[in-house]
Amino acid sequence: MSFHYRDGVLHADAVSLDAIAKQVGTPAYVYSAEMLLDAARQFRAALAGVPNKQLLFAVKANPAHAILTLLAEEGYGADIVSGGELAAARRAGMPAHRIVLSGVGKTPNELAAALDAGIGSINLEHEREGELLSALAVARGMRAPALLRVNPGIDAGTHAKITTGTSDSKFGVPLAEALAVYERLSRLPGLALHGVAVHIGSQIIDLAPLETAYRRIGDLILALRHHGHRITHADLGGGLGVAYRAGQPDADVYAYGLMVTRVTRAWETTLLFEPGRFIAARAGVLLTRVLWVKPGARHPFVIVDASMTDLIRPALYDAWHEFAAVRPSGKRMIADVVGPVCESSDVFARAREIDRMVEGDLAIFHTAGAYGATMSSIYNCHALAPEVLVHGRRSAVISSRVEPAALRRQSLPDWFEHAPRA
Ligand code: LLP
Repeated sequence: MSFHYRDGVLHADAVSLDAIAKQVGTPAYVYSAEMLLDAARQFRAALAGVPNKQLLFAVKANPAHAILTLLAEEGYGADIVSGGELAAARRAGMPAHRIVLSGVGKTPNELAAALDAGIGSINLEHEREGELLSALAVARGMRAPALLRVNPGIDAGTHAKITTGTSDSKFGVPLAEALAVYERLSRLPGLALHGVAVHIGSQIIDLAPLETAYRRIGDLILALRHHGHRITHADLGGGLGVAYRAGQPDADVYAYGLMVTRVTRAWETTLLFEPGRFIAARAGVLLTRVLWVKPGARHPFVIVDASMTDLIRPALYDAWHEFAAVRPSGKRMIADVVGPVCESSDVFARAREIDRMVEGDLAIFHTAGAYGATMSSIYNCHALAPEVLVHGRRSAVISSRVEPAALRRQSLPDWFEHAPRA
């Protein structure tokens, strides 16, 4: 089941979005547990040909406790990028050995916390980081399990702001230097280096750049073994894309599985995967209410109560999210769909044909389950939207609305003698 119309009303699984709006107000994120689990199972099924693997959900895509808990029960571990995500993954019951720490700017505290938690691997972004990690491990009388993240110098063919594998990007060690860096790091007393990691970008639909990246990693593994290194693990990152526009395809996850199986057949390593968007994006929508329909020079403005503070992807990446009425009348209109924030970029859709909207109507933005709620902000002193999980006939608030004052524990300097005190 999914987001679908029943008796003219949009439902998540068996629950109408009308009912959810009534319960929690708008804007609100709504997730379908069934769609999340379907995607998680599909990803695993597609990789059936890979004998040894670990599936790690990229927590950054959606760190909601209930979402992580469902994925933990499906056997997913976590790809994390901060101490906060480590805490979220552990709290959701993901075992430490199924957690991998990535991230280009890990702090000493985060590295130490990862060691103390006993996580499966720390993916090193550069040599200095490896030296620090080694020192931290030696001080604890242990060796840190680590992979070296390699930048294969490949354009993933996706939006520039979510590309990570080109040679001018900040991520990983350039392929040309990887062997030498690996050699030096492997001599450090506190590291148990056991392989390599790669991630070239996100929202990838065309599998060719991924295949090229993986082939380069395969060649590197051969070269490393030739130099006597024991390579037991290779982390192939995330990046599989989904359809944001009606009529476009999702990345073909089964073709991906076959490609990976073919390319890595002779590697003899455990493969790690870090999907985020593919698992969570389609399982979530952002529910909103139309505040005003205002005449514009060319098209009316449909002003909704959700904004770039709830879903920043359109403002940040010109991303497209389908917009649909909860109770479509069958009539259509051309409009700009905009949020209330005082920024010209607070625009969800320009000159788009949409379901006809009048004031007070409910609508959704599709494909908002990944990089949606988690990227929200309290700009303009907006609240953080609540999140609701639906499973079959049941629905529950999994994250309540948060007012900005609750996040900013503000105080006045004690020398502000004349200010009124709350
Ligand atoms: N592994 C690493 C090392 C990553 O940097 C990322 C995403 C992933 C895995 C998960 O990638 P996915 O499977 O979700 O494509 N905020 C952007 C996406 C940023 C992705 C950052 N890294 C957006 O809304 O499109």
